[in-house]
This record gives sequence, C-alpha cells and structure tokens, in this order.
Amino acid sequence: MALAVNFHDRLAHDDSASLRDEVLAGFAAGPKRLAPKFFYDRRGSELFEQITRLPEYYLTRTEEGILASAADDIADRLGRDVTLVELGSGASRKVRLLLEALRPARYLGIDISRDFLLSSTQRLADDYPWLNVHALHADFSHPLALPRPLDDGRPVAFFPGSSIGNFTPNEARIFLRNLHRLLPRGGGLLIGVDLAKDPRILEAAYNDSAGVTAAFNLNLLQRIRRELDTDLDPSRFRHHAFYNEAQSRIEMHLLSTRPQTVRVEGRRFMFRDGESLHTENSCKYSIDAFRELAGSSGFRPAALWTDPQQWFSVHYLTRE
Ligand code: AVI
Repeated sequence: MALAVNFHDRLAHDDSASLRDEVLAGFAAGPKRLAPKFFYDRRGSELFEQITRLPEYYLTRTEEGILASAADDIADRLGRDVTLVELGSGASRKVRLLLEALRPARYLGIDISRDFLLSSTQRLADDYPWLNVHALHADFSHPLALPRPLDDGRPVAFFPGSSIGNFTPNEARIFLRNLHRLLPRGGGLLIGVDLAKDPRILEAAYNDSAGVTAAFNLNLLQRIRRELDTDLDPSRFRHHAFYNEAQSRIEMHLLSTRPQTVRVEGRRFMFRDGESLHTENSCKYSIDAFRELAGSSGFRPAALWTDPQQWFSVHYLTRE
C-alpha cells in the first residue's frame, strides 16, 4: 500500500511569473544574466540527472562514495532523533545512503520542482515504511520557516551536491545566515562542497563529450520559449563553460552566435555577436575557505569527510 507523504506548498503558483520577471530584468542587465534555479523544470531536472551519471562529472559519484563509506560515522556525529531536512532534494538518491544508518525521526524534502519533489518523496515513503516523510514545495533560496510539526525536534539540514557553489560567496553567506535563522541552537548542517582542483578536470566536468551539459544549459532558452511569449530561437546560442581561476569558479554562459534582436513579452533585447547570457557560477572552495565562509554565518566545523584524491568534501557544521 502506498504510504502518504505530508505535502506542504509554499509556492501556490508555478514559477512562470518569476521566470518572466527575471528574464525581463536579466536580459536588460549588463552583462545579461539569468539565475540557475530556472534550469530545473521537468526537462532540466531530467537532464541534470543525466549529468550526474556522466564520466566527466566526478562530483556526484565522489560525494556518493564519501557518504556510503562514512555513513556510520556520519550517523554517530549527527546523533539520534534528527529531523533531516534535505534542501533541493531532487531525486533524493544521496539521502538513501544515510537513512539506514541514521534512522532519522522525520525526513523533510524541499524542492522548487513540484512534480519531481512529489515523485521522489513518494518513492522514499514506499521504500522506507518506518520513515515519517514530509515534502515542502518552496524556493529555498529565499528565507523559509519549517512547517509544523517539523519545527519540533532537532533539525539537521542536508545540502549535498555542492549546490552551495551555485551561489557566489556573498550569496552563500546570506543563504547560510537564513539557514542559521531556520535552525534552532543544537541543529546542524551536513553539506557537500566541491573542492578547487586542476582546471582541466573542472572544465571537462562542465563540457562533457556527450553534450548533456550543453543541452542542460540550452534548455533554459527552450523553457523560456515554452513558458513565455517570445520569438527566442535557442539554435542561435551556444554553450560555453570555463574555469575562472581568479574567482575559483566554473562559469556557464550561453553565447549568441550572431547579432540578433529577441522579443520577450512585448519587449525587445539586442544581443551582439558572441554576447553572453551568464547562466551559472559553480564555485570551488578549499576546506579552509569554506569553513571560514560558514563560520562568518554562525556555523562551527564539527566533522569533515573527503575522498582519497581530495576532490570533494562533506562538512558537518553545528549551528552556534
Ligand atoms: C547543481 N549544481 C551543483 C551543479 C553544478 O555542478 O554546479 C549544476 C550543474 N551545472 C552544470 N553541470 C551541473
């Protein structure tokens, strides 16, 4: 029998309205930009799942290796009676590596993609009948409050995948401060952070030979076509990803392959030949640099796990 997921909705509408506002603002900005959270419609979420299985995209398998081999140790550090709050739960594959060892009192998945959230939390409820499963449809890049009754107990936020890297360090600080406000004293944060490394390894991870990352980036334009009134033609743009060493981040852009004018919702935007629409940053940290960032937002390092090559890190931080 299918077990119920407790569903809480904080995004009553879909996010086409905010997509419209952000496209109009981002296309008018200099340089042009669009927030990476808009990658994740159904198609974008599927493409991202494919990315996580690419040979060049070492992040997912390395983090999963760390979580699988350290699960018992992680469970010891986090302790008993935890409310595990997964931010951007997506397919919820990684959390499965922890559930048996940790046996949390409750699980709350939070995601911006409603369909994906519902199907993945339902699968968790089916596969772990002992687990009390909640789903919160929300944009966690804005301040959040935990829905009742999840504000009881000892919440530990789980933020895997180095998604923190998709914020600039300043945005990450604001995000961590919001999380600090959400968690009571004694709460914690288990977070996956990709580490700075040889730029060739980094650049290959965002320029895979099968072209899935390019399709993921270009899907943003296809999404705009699907959801907004526009004559935007995605075939007139190309994927570009490179490592910006000074900022310690991979940048993803969509470059216009010709001079063109694009109409969106009655407004017109000029693109020069080669002009960029900046779609994503993926910041890479050293262990110390990340600890410093988290410390400035009120989190204290409590434990750290890495892989033998030191390509990826999983930090456990406690809320001060
Ligand atoms: C979700 N996030 C951590 C991914 C990353 O590596 O920055 C998104 C991604 N972009 C391109 N490939 C993967």
